[in-house]
Amino acid sequence: MHPLLQRPIPIWQAPTGSIAGSRLCIAVSSAGGMGSMGLTWTSIEDAVLAVHNVRNETAQPFMVNFALAFPPQSLSAVLDAGAPIVSFSWGQPAGLVKTVQNSGALAGVAVGSAKGADIALQDGVDFLVVQGCEAGGHVQSSTQLQTLLPQILEISGDIPVVASGGIASGAQIAKFLGLGADAVMMGTRFVATTESRAHNDYRKLLVEATADKTVLTGCFDVGWPMAPHRVLRNSTFEAWEASGYASGESRPGKNEIIATTQGGCPIFRYEDTAPMEGMNGDVEAMCCYAGTGVSFVTEILSAVDVVRDLWSSAVEQSKGLNIV
Ligand SMILES: Cc1cc2nc3c(=O)[nH]c(=O)nc-3n(C[C@H](O)[C@H](O)[C@H](O)COP(=O)(O)O)c2cc1C
Repeated sequence: MHPLLQRPIPIWQAPTGSIAGSRLCIAVSSAGGMGSMGLTWTSIEDAVLAVHNVRNETAQPFMVNFALAFPPQSLSAVLDAGAPIVSFSWGQPAGLVKTVQNSGALAGVAVGSAKGADIALQDGVDFLVVQGCEAGGHVQSSTQLQTLLPQILEISGDIPVVASGGIASGAQIAKFLGLGADAVMMGTRFVATTESRAHNDYRKLLVEATADKTVLTGCFDVGWPMAPHRVLRNSTFEAWEASGYASGESRPGKNEIIATTQGGCPIFRYEDTAPMEGMNGDVEAMCCYAGTGVSFVTEILSAVDVVRDLWSSAVEQSKGLNIV
């Protein structure tokens, strides 16, 4: 495996949009895992600043991510700023893989099927992220991780494979490394950390929730239509469910403003915006992304403790499996 991808602790923090900023990224990479930042919705100026922040604070590798359902507006700027690893999701990067590699960085793609993995491998990626349907956030897969991972390992050859979706415990980490993944990636677990940019009420909702309180749905489609997402079942979802999944203008509370951003911009019910620090309003009714691993999120911890505690638990669980 390329040295940049080989971390002392094979735990990667998922790029959870703007919630995964430089502070979280620095904490995870400094702790021996792989930190990341979701830069899809970040301005070019802020994205460059975030990359500089990380590089100033740690010499460890880290990853930046672009969901290709939107133009990767800051890609060249962050490569120029020295981002060492780039992951793409929600699309086939094709020529962008070479753009990344020509700048000296590594390129990976998140996939939700063996077919998607096959295309990414033909594009010449340096690593694959396999996302199972248990994942929080927007979900590319309709298959459970434990079914999908072996299918992809069969065709991935020497290309490192990172397993993600619903993972938030040491036992699960041991299980997926035991199945052959080179690393695991967790999103929801890291949203509920002190270094994430999530709204505190959202973090608390994650701590209280269990897997059966998540749903894979199309409910919060304003801002990103036709992209299934796993979220907490909340008042917005339950009113919509009770309406028989009414469409368009008939959706309950369709045009209601339920919160505002730090800058005072309105956030409407059914928007895909996750609750972040500085926002005000009805956080519970917003789009609270969560994977099924939320059952194992029982307290808000520092990201450093998450990396270290879960790794020591995984090592303990895997005695005899010979994965560490
Ligand atoms: C709040 C949130 C935001 C996310 N934003 C992104 C994103 O910007 N880009 C991306 O590729 N994946 C995104 N994801 C999906 C993660 O990359 C990853 O697949 C997922 O978190 C793994 O499942 P888990 O949450 O159960 O650990 C997001 C997930 C969450 C929970």
